[in-house]
Amino acid sequence: MPDPAMKAFVTGHPIAHSRSPKIHNYWLEHYGIGGSYEAVDIAPADFAAFLAGLAAGGFRGGNVTIPHKEAAFELVGRRDEAAEQIGAVNTLWLEDGVVCGGNTDAHGFAANLDEHAPGWDRNGAALVLGAGGAARAVVHALRTRGVGDIRIVNRTPARAKELAHRFGVGVSAHEVAATEALMADAGLLVNTTSLGLQGHEGQGLPADPSRLPAHAIVTDIVYVPLETPLLAAARQRGLATVDGLGMLLHQAAPGFERWFGVRPQVTPALRALIVADLGG
Ligand code: ATR
Repeated sequence: MPDPAMKAFVTGHPIAHSRSPKIHNYWLEHYGIGGSYEAVDIAPADFAAFLAGLAAGGFRGGNVTIPHKEAAFELVGRRDEAAEQIGAVNTLWLEDGVVCGGNTDAHGFAANLDEHAPGWDRNGAALVLGAGGAARAVVHALRTRGVGDIRIVNRTPARAKELAHRFGVGVSAHEVAATEALMADAGLLVNTTSLGLQGHEGQGLPADPSRLPAHAIVTDIVYVPLETPLLAAARQRGLATVDGLGMLLHQAAPGFERWFGVRPQVTPALRALIVADLGG
């Protein structure tokens, strides 16, 4: 039986597509914890009231996704270091009645690469495609792990410049036209753009991975489909590839630990469950 005192949630708008309930409910069952984790659809206009009512609603905390991550950042009473750096909150918890916000996306990104491409952070320069919210988390992860040469390319150059400026030394912004030259000596290519996402077919590759050196690792934060056209092209060239599903799984773990007191493991069984749910 779910313990009414052990409630957590994911909120977004829309939220029906979220795989977070599957992940957390798998862990709750696996670790024999009598808690619950549910999806809650909250329209932007109602989000502040939802946050204000968390404690009264009996929640331990929850996850926040599109379009509430920036609003959550503004509304929480305390933030962790990652949230401060990234400017967005994806995980909430209560401390002495105060709603606190953190960001576990950078952790998820790094842990996914640690699992599937160990040594990724000692492989030379990183090239990040895109400069939106996801890119902020990726750049924070790269900085935290000591990658010293981070290059950002974006369709809208002003956003790349803003991101580079936000993180400072070692992070540079470039025009799309420079992509091939920037790839020639890069050890890690990260796609954070929506090119490759299901529904965006026919828009082409965000970059041509054949321009990368043989030791390069290619990763995409998109996980629908699991193998994006970029990852397929990279794999055909013999490059190491890491899909984005592990980032989703790993970003979930710190929140679960905060709410339910157990650090859950990202296992092949969990991955298989979500792959099956995605229709793979
Ligand atoms: P997220 O929070 O997922 O990063 P976002 O802030 O909307 O979402 O950012 C999406 C990223 O994909 C941006 O870098 C965007 O480029 P712009 O800043 O120029 O908009 C990039 N993107 C989306 N569609 C694209 C396309 N057709 N070609 C190139 N880049 C694209």
